[in-house]
Amino acid sequence: MSQPKILLLGPPGAGKGTQSSNIVEEYDVDHVTTGDALRANKDMETEHGTPREYMDAGELVPDPVVNEIVKAALEDADGFVLDGYPRNLSQAEYLDEITDLDLVALLDVDREELLDRLTGRRVCDECGANYHVEFSPPEEEGVCDECGGELIQRDDDTEETAKERLNVFEENTQPVIDYYEEEGELVRIDGEGTPDEVWAELEAAIEDAA
Ligand code: AP5
Ligand code: MG
Repeated sequence: MSQPKILLLGPPGAGKGTQSSNIVEEYDVDHVTTGDALRANKDMETEHGTPREYMDAGELVPDPVVNEIVKAALEDADGFVLDGYPRNLSQAEYLDEITDLDLVALLDVDREELLDRLTGRRVCDECGANYHVEFSPPEEEGVCDECGGELIQRDDDTEETAKERLNVFEENTQPVIDYYEEEGELVRIDGEGTPDEVWAELEAAIEDAA
């Protein structure tokens, strides 16, 4: 399997972005992530309003907006890692219609740990590289190791909005996990180890799916 099609599920802060970077590096696939795509177009006017109105409150952006992003991105990709989608059952049904998948993996992490990861996350304003003030700090505080860019906090990583995102996950996205589990397609990965430990388990699952 040279160009796998991987769905990476997990709650906010589980490490989807972190592990997607490893997958892209190892398997040379596209990283299709609705979160990044929406952040790059936060003030785009749609008939449902702007993405910002939903994102800064921790709520889901309406399905038609995200479905279109994913369809266009998957059409252009041979292999991919899909991160941040589907987030409700209707998106999962839509995904079933437009592609097949080689692996559905869930990064499993406790809620308490998730909140610490989210509120301590910093991202590079220039290249998007991902850090954590405690768990993976940059060499120089506030400065990106990769490109020297400024490290900022995401607008939705305040404690209040992060908590709301975790609630939205429980309500809307947990049923998606149950759906793949009932189909017998879900592979659970322990997301609580170090990033390298998580990657070792995830890479083994990808190789198994080949
Ligand atoms: P999105 O950007 O997808 O955010 P999310 O799902 O909440 O996930 P995060 O990006 O916060 O976490 P992650 O799992 O990528 O973790 P990361 O690797 O960064 O979505 C944002 C918003 O967009 C949504 O709220 C919604 O409004 C909208 N949206 C997006 N998709 C949508 C859709 N399909 N439908 C509707 N609306 C949509 O890691 C987190 C931190 O932990 C980092 O600091 C990292 O360094 C650290 N870390 C990672 N791994 C470890 C580890 N093993 N040990 C210790 N620390 C670690
Ligand atoms: Mg992410």
